Amino acid sequence: MRVMSGKTVTATLLLLSFLLLGVLYCYQNYRVSVSFELNDSRQTDSVCVCVCDVLPLSEEFHLEAEHLRYQQPSILIGRTDVVTVTPWLAPVVWDGTFDPVLLDGLYRPRNISVAVTVFAVGKYIRFLEAFLLTAEQHFFVGFNVHVYIFTDRPNEVPRVHMAPGRQVTVRSVPSSRRWQEISARRMELIQTLIEELRNHKDYIFCLDVDSRFHGRWGTESLGGLVGVIHPGYYRDQRTKFPYERRPESRAYLAPEDGDFYYCGGAFGGRLQEVHLMAKTCRQDFEADARGGIEAAWQEESHLNRYMWIHKPTKVLSPEYLWQDFKSREPEIRLVRFSGVAKNYAEIRPNT
Ligand SMILES: *[C@@H]1O[C@H](CO)[C@@H](O)[C@H](O)[C@H]1NC(C)=O
Repeated sequence: MRVMSGKTVTATLLLLSFLLLGVLYCYQNYRVSVSFELNDSRQTDSVCVCVCDVLPLSEEFHLEAEHLRYQQPSILIGRTDVVTVTPWLAPVVWDGTFDPVLLDGLYRPRNISVAVTVFAVGKYIRFLEAFLLTAEQHFFVGFNVHVYIFTDRPNEVPRVHMAPGRQVTVRSVPSSRRWQEISARRMELIQTLIEELRNHKDYIFCLDVDSRFHGRWGTESLGGLVGVIHPGYYRDQRTKFPYERRPESRAYLAPEDGDFYYCGGAFGGRLQEVHLMAKTCRQDFEADARGGIEAAWQEESHLNRYMWIHKPTKVLSPEYLWQDFKSREPEIRLVRFSGVAKNYAEIRPNT
């Protein structure tokens, strides 16, 4: 081997610097090119067209854990009283199955932002203040959160102090005489909101306003398509689930179909996935309406049909939507979010 002269070293260093600049330039271009195409969510991983042949990293799966300190994980010790994975290998999130410090540490450097929708139509506005106050205490604390409130009473929206990086936007919607109609319109409003948000948010959760947070709901809930198991039916046989059972409906599920009964009151995931679901449910709901049929539980029925066909990538246990009137079961160590006990006759515009 021959020793390089000073000139050769300088030239080599210069060449390397140019190469590095080239790579950085291409990477920037690549970052810009991954903006997603809402019309076809499957095209998300658009191919890099720059000259350098870089394999794109998916934001969804690339989690870096440098410098994080946390308790040693085990594959022998953990919860044995509940099932923590679905047969298609999606995690089922229960208290004790995740490390909140580790998860927050993984997601914080990515500066993720989470959109939330709540519908506070008619008398449901009375639940909004407790929802917002408790969300500030428990929902993605320390992360960017943007709550979109859909209401026919914008003047009655309470002022709630939000921490830095968190905000509220009020959207006016017309009043409705039937609560079924309010429920049906939700998917349409979610679909159009996501089309507006496009690249400005990463995840979205659609939550019932007549509920409160009682415990942490955070990064452990993030996933592509996220379903929440309804607290009322998880001990039942699928034949007893209140799915839509009339084959004329687009929400139909046969007695031998279905994995879980999912809540209409809480769901979410990546924008692209939730957009596709909202759009599909809305189209199916409208096709049903043209055929003169309304599914047993409106959007919840369509959501259950959708999630039977498109398996959620993460399933949240009923800790993530309990009901205040229900007594606590032993497997529920922590109620994180719970529906307020209420008198439907008094709250709903019709029964
Ligand atoms: C983090 O995200 C927020 C909201 O999306 C944005 O306003 C802010 O500029 C971002 N911060 C950094 C350091 O990228």
